[in-house]
Amino acid sequence: MVQLIEEKLPRHIAIIMDGNGRWAQRRNLERIMGHQKGIEAAVEVVQFCREKGIQYVTLYAFSIENWRRPQEEIRALMGLLEQNLRVELAKLLENNIRLMTIGNIDDLPLPVVDVLEDAKERTKSCDGMVLNLALSYGGRDEIVLAVRKLIRDVKNKILSEDDINETLFSNYLFTKEIPDPDLLIRTSGEMRISNFLLWQLAYTEIYVTNVLWPDFTREDMIAALAEYQRRERRFGRTSEQLLETAH
Ligand code: IPE
Ligand code: IPE
Ligand code: MG
Repeated sequence: MVQLIEEKLPRHIAIIMDGNGRWAQRRNLERIMGHQKGIEAAVEVVQFCREKGIQYVTLYAFSIENWRRPQEEIRALMGLLEQNLRVELAKLLENNIRLMTIGNIDDLPLPVVDVLEDAKERTKSCDGMVLNLALSYGGRDEIVLAVRKLIRDVKNKILSEDDINETLFSNYLFTKEIPDPDLLIRTSGEMRISNFLLWQLAYTEIYVTNVLWPDFTREDMIAALAEYQRRERRFGRTSEQLLETAH
């Protein structure tokens, strides 16, 4: 049994849920079956994080680049999203989980937008955990949108150029109310970020596992957390400095 240290759990876990298609292909199933299984895995992981007292979980559910996929897959994926969100809303409320989103939500099909807006509104006073879904999300797109908004505010004299610093810039991103992730998990072995949270991942610990997302269980999550707890987060300092401040 892996023992986790309660005080050293990440505050915010971000997950690139990858490998649904490969999971299905290996079973000679349609890719969409992998997506359905992937949603079930996500529900389990969210429940687990809630039980562990994690404060923020961000799931990369659909990237801005994923619009390049076959129309049929997109349509099926959006259908699953809508359907599952409707069913899971009760569970979110029951578990005191607040739903938030990042990305270009308005680009999603209207029924998905509606169910998301409704779920966000109805869970807005839940304070047990934040479940943050990245949908039609791209890290570069997010930064460009922030720059545009900043320039507008400078032009309108809401702020001056000298006010711009890292903290202020962060407040122009989709994630303004959410701390940076402490741990990033990517499943299915790919060693890339795929345009996810480019600004926010600056000092995040990265954990990649070969497990395909639909197969990702609580045990895999515990393994990721145990590895995270073995890491030394130095933020540019030396090991010795960290030991000194710990005393
Ligand atoms: C991740 O699984 C889910 C989404 C990107 C929506 P994939 O569909 O990317 O699965 P693979 O990478 O093809 O196996
Ligand atoms: C990243 O997975 C996006 C999501 C998990 C939603 P992809 O499977 O789309 O990533 P790439 O294209 O292989 O990098
Ligand atoms: Mg993939």
